[in-house]
Amino acid sequence: MKLTRSLFVLITCIFFITSCYYDKEDLLYGNDNAPCTDTTGPISYSQKVVPVLQQFCYNCHTGNFPSGGIAMGTYTTDKVVAQNGKLYGSISYSAGFSPMPQGMPKLRKCQIEVIKKWVDAGMLNN
Ligand code: HEC
Repeated sequence: MKLTRSLFVLITCIFFITSCYYDKEDLLYGNDNAPCTDTTGPISYSQKVVPVLQQFCYNCHTGNFPSGGIAMGTYTTDKVVAQNGKLYGSISYSAGFSPMPQGMPKLRKCQIEVIKKWVDAGMLNN
């Protein structure tokens, strides 16, 4: 009898903890299972790529002493990082690259997809 009750309490606790975790994640990062409308059609550098980089990367990678010597923040510098494969390598957590953004959760699938499409389409300044 006692065992059944503590088991029930334990299961309820686990349920609360996990459901709370997912709720919070949804709120902060959005639902990764939601359809990715962002990635349809041609990807605009200024309208789709820059907002992501601005929110997650420019903090550390602009100015006179950008982190890791990786300068970003203008079309020219962003294109260099995209062209040498480091941009996609780092945000996709590929082997051989430091995972970025540093100290933050991985970008959402949509955001990674947007950047990949922009790179694959030739990194246009559009
Ligand atoms: C909190 C600061 C911080 C943020 C935010 C950040 N970076 Fe970094 N980044 C670093 C530091 C520090 C290094 C150098 C050390 C290392 O490679 O881990 C680095 C290194 C890199 C490198 C070189 C990795 C390699 O393996 O050669 C790339 C590319 C890069 N960052 C891209 C990005 C991108 C893209 C974002 C946004 C999605 C981002 N970073 C966000 C701090 C940051």
